[in-house]
Amino acid sequence: MSLRPYIVGNWKMNGLRSTMADARAIDRAAARYPAVDVGLAPPFTLVHAMAEAAQDSAVGGQDCHAKPNGAFTGDVSAPMLLDAGAGFVIVGHSERRAIHAEDDAAVRAKAEAALVAGLSVIVCVGETEAERDAGKAEAIVAGQLHGSVPQGEGAADRLSVAYEPVWAIGTGRVPSVDDVGAMHRSIRADLVKLYGAAGKGVRILYGGSVNAGNASELLAADEVGGALVGGASLTAENFAPIIHAAAMLVEG
Ligand code: PGA
Repeated sequence: MSLRPYIVGNWKMNGLRSTMADARAIDRAAARYPAVDVGLAPPFTLVHAMAEAAQDSAVGGQDCHAKPNGAFTGDVSAPMLLDAGAGFVIVGHSERRAIHAEDDAAVRAKAEAALVAGLSVIVCVGETEAERDAGKAEAIVAGQLHGSVPQGEGAADRLSVAYEPVWAIGTGRVPSVDDVGAMHRSIRADLVKLYGAAGKGVRILYGGSVNAGNASELLAADEVGGALVGGASLTAENFAPIIHAAAMLVEG
C-alpha cells in the first residue's frame, strides 16, 4: 500500500447516544495504530457528540446537501457538518443513489459543496450484480466516476473514492481479490486521466462486506488504499481488527 491506509466506518441509520461507548472504543483502537487514518460516519444526530469525543479518528457525515442553506426541509449542508465537528462526508453511496434517486450530477454537486465548505469527501461508485453479469462493471464505474467526482482546482487533494459493488453491500459476498484489483487499477487510470498526477494521490477504498476475516486480503489487492465498512464498523470488537489489518500491511 503506497498511500496511508484509510479505514472508514459507515454507521448508516444505526447508533443512539447509548452507543457512544462503541465510538469511544473505536477511537481508542485508532490511537493504537498511528499509521492508519480512521474515520467514522455516524448518523447526523451523533456527529457532534462523536466529534467532541474523538481524539484519534475523524468524524464525518453520510451525505450533505449541495446548497449551504435554504428551504430544504430535512436536509443538512456541508457547512453544518463542519460546524458540528465533521472533517469529511461520504457522498453518492449506492443507498443514496438508489433510495433517494441521486444521479451523478447530484453527487458531484454535493462533493463540490463539501470541498468548498472545507470538508474532505469520499465519493462512492459501484456496479449492480446485473451490470457485472453483463460484463459492464468497469464501464459503469468509469461512467459514475467521470460524472460524480468533483471538478476544479485542487479537487483531488481532499478526495477519496470508494468502490462498493452494490451486490456486495451487506450481503456477505465479496468480489475476488483479482476482480477488486482490476477495478481499482481501472479507477486509478481514470483518476489520472481526470486529475493528472494528483490522481495518483487519491485513496481508493474498497467497500462491501469487509470484515475481520477478509480485510487483510482485500486491503492487499492492487491499488486498494483502505476500506469503507458498514456492518462491521458498529463495534470496536469487529472494527478494530480491520484497522489492525491495515496497519500490518504498512508496518509489516
Ligand atoms: P457493509 O456496507 O460493510 O455492511 O457491506 C458497506 C457500505 O455500504 O459502505
